[in-house]
Amino acid sequence: MTFQIAIDGPAGSGKSTMAKILSRKLNAIYLDTGAMYRTVGLKAVQSGIDTKDEKALADMMKNIDITIAFENEEQVIYLDGVNVNGNIRTAEISVAASNVAVFPVVRHKMVEMQRKIASCNNVVMDGRDIGTFVLQQANFKFFLTADAEERAKRRCLEMKEKKMDADYKSILEDIKYRDNNDSSRAFAPLKKADDAILIDTTFLNIDQVINKMMEYIDGKQSN
Ligand code: DC
Repeated sequence: MTFQIAIDGPAGSGKSTMAKILSRKLNAIYLDTGAMYRTVGLKAVQSGIDTKDEKALADMMKNIDITIAFENEEQVIYLDGVNVNGNIRTAEISVAASNVAVFPVVRHKMVEMQRKIASCNNVVMDGRDIGTFVLQQANFKFFLTADAEERAKRRCLEMKEKKMDADYKSILEDIKYRDNNDSSRAFAPLKKADDAILIDTTFLNIDQVINKMMEYIDGKQSN
């Protein structure tokens, strides 16, 4: 039997950091679903398509080839045969991803791939709709949050560490735009599942968050 862990929450709440650690601890694959929407956003931008034009995106989705591989314990995402891991983390692509993710025609295709991967692997999956939609039967569900200012600070630091340009004010604006866009869309919005454990990470360090998550996992398993 395989198991599924769903981690949802807004940008910068610590999802990917926690998902990576948990996946190693529990011997599971870590699937970053945001990277998939980012890749669709990248394709739209590269093709000169307006990321709010549903009709044009629907046409684009007919011919998109996204492949996910796990190489050296890292997720590698290929767009039309090209590794795009290095191209999807810019501010422009963050906004493009949030825009294209509004449309069911985009989401259905991504969700199908996500469920397929989860059906034959132990998986820790992070995103916005994993607990509410993609893996409604997940064994463990978490919803991470943090103040927008703290999330922007973390994102800024992360980008600086990667030697990318990082401007706090524009990162905060981007985060607020995406919070609103991701939680107000009609289909599969960012939302805590009723049965997800809520963790506010604003004043917690990584170990403290992982301890809370592991306490819950261990407790539920021994029930
Ligand atoms: O997790 P991230 O910041 O890399 O995600 C980028 C965008 O993709 C996010 O603003 C909304 C969208 N997304 C989504 O709609 N559903 C998911 N499961 C994951 C991401």
